[in-house]
This record gives sequence, structure tokens and C-alpha cells, in this order.
Amino acid sequence: MRRATAALLALAALALLVAASPAGWIWTLPGGAAPPPVPAGNPMSAAKVELGRRLFYDADLSIDGTMSCATCHEQRRGFADGNRTMPGVHGDPGRRNVPGLANVGYLAPLTWADPRLTGLEAQVAVPMFGEAPVEMGMKGAEAELPRRLGSDTCYRKMFKAAFPRERGRIDAATVAMALAAFQRTLISYGSPFDRGQLSPSAQRGKAAFAAACAECHSGRNFTDGQFHALETATKDGGLAEITGRKDDAGSFRTPSLRNVALTAPYFHDGSAATLDEAIRRHGGIALTGEERGDIRALLEALTDKGFVTDPEFAYPETACGKAL
Ligand code: HEC
Ligand code: HEC
Repeated sequence: MRRATAALLALAALALLVAASPAGWIWTLPGGAAPPPVPAGNPMSAAKVELGRRLFYDADLSIDGTMSCATCHEQRRGFADGNRTMPGVHGDPGRRNVPGLANVGYLAPLTWADPRLTGLEAQVAVPMFGEAPVEMGMKGAEAELPRRLGSDTCYRKMFKAAFPRERGRIDAATVAMALAAFQRTLISYGSPFDRGQLSPSAQRGKAAFAAACAECHSGRNFTDGQFHALETATKDGGLAEITGRKDDAGSFRTPSLRNVALTAPYFHDGSAATLDEAIRRHGGIALTGEERGDIRALLEALTDKGFVTDPEFAYPETACGKAL
């Protein structure tokens, strides 16, 4: 018995060591939650997550130094923004509404309508190097990354700690891997819904939601990862732009509903201003006013205050022990 206790204590100490060491990573997840899948080629480490966080907030990742990932993905809005669509660095109008990033490590495929985008590492190329629309505008300027980031002693140190096997190489691939590792830590399972703290209305909303919504907004992240066309008029081809199939016109991936009360406006084009409007515009779903109110109360209970104020996800005030 005593020996078992000692062994357990030793294990616990080891776990703490691993968590504290830059080379290791320990998931801190609420009871029952599995960690998101991590690709073998990009193992988690504290050093990599720290680097990814700094990069997420760094406007040097855009061609003119004005736009970071966080310009469009704001923590206080569940890592969405408040605009219908957001223009890129050259003023190209955004095509689609900025989605939140809560639990994005569990989602696949990524974005509104691209079944080919199954990993966070690959998705980074869309905002950085994409041309339709141009967002961060780095296409053709790949060499700027090692030049800009490598001129900073602290970044060089951080890349060395995060990528020992790559010898601290700074390029689009390592930048994407660090950003992906940071985004896998954006886990939101601390809402009143998760803690079973539902108002009577939200409690009733659970049953109504199960009957009318859970077919598509299913599972712990309220998405089936599938593409559906709602009865909303749109000029956006959606899934059909990739597959070329007429049947896929206007189909979009079911969005997650985590922190949805903070991510207005809604839909792929940001055309629904409020939760009520988003629910009403699904079409084909008959709800009484009371049921809609109850469902709205349930959706509001998915707001995770701890997640949107967690200092671990905020702008890093320091790097290498110095103020940024
Ligand atoms: C100009 C605004 C803008 C910037 C800057 C931006 N994003 Fe996005 N992000 C979007 C939009 C819009 C979408 C949806 C695109 C689509 O579906 O076609 C998106 C989608 C995503 C998704 C998919 C989320 C999901 O639910 O599938 C991830 C992940 C993501 N962005 C991460 C990043 C990272 C990392 C950066 C920085 C390298 C970044 N974004 C920079 C606007 C932006
Ligand atoms: C047939 C599948 C399906 C059903 C059933 C369904 N949804 Fe949706 N939902 C979607 C899709 C797909 C979108 C994105 C549509 C778009 O952008 O054009 C969406 C979008 C939303 C949005 C906007 C989220 C955002 O970030 O933009 C909310 C809120 C929402 N649904 C709530 C509900 C509720 C509540 C119900 C039940 C009353 C429901 N949905 C039923 C598939 C579904």
C-alpha cells in the first residue's frame, strides 16, 4: 500500500516535471474530455505553444505589418470578430464571416466549406498566403518570415526551444506548426452548460435542441463536421466551389456553437445579426416563440467566461523575460 502511494507520488512529481519542462505538455482538461488529436509530426510542447501564442498575436506575419491572426480572431469574442466579413491587408473585402476558434483542435474539416482542409497546420496557409481573398498578403514573400522573425534574438531562442529537431529553423512550416500547437490549446469546456448550471429555460431548451438541432449541431462541439444547405439565399457557392457538384451549392459545414452568443453576426456571410435571426433563418424547423427562447437560453449557456478571459490565451505581455 505504502509502496503504491510512493509510486503514485513519484509519478505525480514526474508529471509536474514534464508539464513544467519546455519539452513536455500535459493537457489540463475537465473530467471526461479527451485531448484533441495531435499529428505525429507536430508533437505538443510548452515551448511550441508559447511560440505559437506569440506568433498568433504578431502582425509581422502580414505583409505590411498591420494584421495578426488576432486582428480577426479576438479572444473576448470567442476568437471570432464582430464584423460580417473582414477585409484583408490590401482592402480586399472578406468573403466569409470569421469563425470562433474554441475547441478548433477537435474540428475537421476546417473553415466553412473546404473538405480538403483537415489539419490546423495546413489551414495557416489560407490567411497568410491565400489570394482569394488576400488576407495577410504573404504570398511570394515567404522569405520575409525568416528575415523578420530571425532578426529578433528572442524569437531565435524560442524557435530553437520549440523545434530542436529542426534546429530552430524559421520558415512557413515551423510557423504553421507552432500556430497549430497553440490553437490546439484553445479548449472551452467550462461553460455553465458544461458545469450543469442551467436556468430552467435553458434546461427546457436542451430537449427542444435535441429534437430540432442536434441532428447537425451534434456532439460535444455542436457540429457533425458535415455540409448542409439551409434555406437561405446566398451568392456563395459553398461546398460546390470545391466539388463542382450542383447538389453542393450553398452547403456549408455546420458551425460549432461554443461561445456562440459572443460571435455575432452569424452564418458564412455574417448576414444574420442575432441568435434569434440565425435560428429563424434555418427554415423547415417549426418552433414556438417559447421554444426559440429556451433554445436561445441554452446557446447563451455555452459562453465560457473563463475561456475568453484566460490569460494563457491572451496577448503575451512578455517573451524571453522581457516586455513585448
Ligand atoms: C482577415 C481576417 C483573418 C485573419 C487575419 C485570419 N483569419 Fe482565420 N479565418 C478568417 C475567416 C474569414 C475564416 C473562414 C474562412 C472560410 O471559411 O472560407 C477563418 C477561418 C479560420 C480557421 C478555421 C476555423 C474553423 O472553425 O474551421 C482557423 C483555424 C483560423 N482561421 C486560424 C487563423 C490563424 C492561425 C490566423 C493567423 C495566421 C488567421 N486565422 C488569420 C479570417 C481571418
Ligand atoms: C440540417 C442541419 C442543421 C440543423 C438541423 C440546424 N442547423 Fe444550425 N446551422 C447549420 C449550418 C449548415 C449552419 C451554417 C449555415 C450558413 O452559414 O449558411 C448553421 C448555423 C447556425 C447558427 C449560426 C452559427 C454561426 O456561428 O454562424 C446557429 C446559431 C445555429 N445554426 C443554431 C441552430 C439551432 C438552434 C438549431 C435548431 C433549432 C439548428 N441550428 C439546426 C446546420 C443545421
